[in-house]
Amino acid sequence: MLFDASRRSASTMSKIELVDTHAHVNFNAYKDDSDEVIRRALDNEVWMINVGSQYSTSKRAVEMAERYEKGVYAAIGLHPLHLETGLVKMKNDTEEIQFPTIEENFDYEQYKKLAQSPKVVAIGEVGLDYYWKPKTKSKLGLFKEKQMAVLFQQIDLARELDLPVILHCRMSHEDLIKILDYKLKDINYNLKGVIHCFTGTWEQAQKYIELGFYLGLNGIIFKMDLDDAIKKIPLDRLLVETDCPYLTPSPIEGRNEPAFVKYVAEKIAEIKGSSYENIAKITAENAQKLFKI
Ligand code: NI
Repeated sequence: MLFDASRRSASTMSKIELVDTHAHVNFNAYKDDSDEVIRRALDNEVWMINVGSQYSTSKRAVEMAERYEKGVYAAIGLHPLHLETGLVKMKNDTEEIQFPTIEENFDYEQYKKLAQSPKVVAIGEVGLDYYWKPKTKSKLGLFKEKQMAVLFQQIDLARELDLPVILHCRMSHEDLIKILDYKLKDINYNLKGVIHCFTGTWEQAQKYIELGFYLGLNGIIFKMDLDDAIKKIPLDRLLVETDCPYLTPSPIEGRNEPAFVKYVAEKIAEIKGSSYENIAKITAENAQKLFKI
């Protein structure tokens, strides 16, 4: 095993059922009951990583994690939807209620300072998002360049701090794969991380696996048919997550939360013809290994 011995023995002392590797209890959707939501997860032996999408939510994730002795961790980063490009006007969609599109520039030193907390276990969520894009070709080129440049900066931060990355990728798998391949070869660095909310093809999954990444699955697997890729992804590269408050897994309705990650594990078990216990155990071990928790 590749676990650090001291960390490993500390974590096995308390039983862990599952790790929700991508939650947003730091978002406004939980402003009135975040502690209850976290407690409900911890009472069910579900640990979580609350993921920031810009400076304010990153800071909140860190403060939240620091209130708990164990089981609650933070990731910090600037999501591409929050990046100031001056090139595209954000449109309304259902997400916007809880995902206000306040734009900012990436401040390396500011995030680095935030990462001094021992509860920060990853840089994320960072990545590429081409859902809202400029209409002209020249603007589109600049738009993509800007997203890539900020992703590079955040990969550099992860490298400096020796942290894994949590990658967001929407309508941009080809570019992300090219960037990771090129960037990692260029700097000769073995970057670790997860492609969160993976909805790509098996061919794309294979590419990420070759590059050394994990694939994170959540409630979207109840809505999209990803069975072919799920069946083929090796268990040692799989992570479970909720992406709460979004993507509530069936049979639950309404706001999602970390405790519901068990439904995702159950669904993966069903697709893979494995047991829930096996999927829970292996994905929890994968999360502990990747994020050193
Ligand atoms: Ni997210």
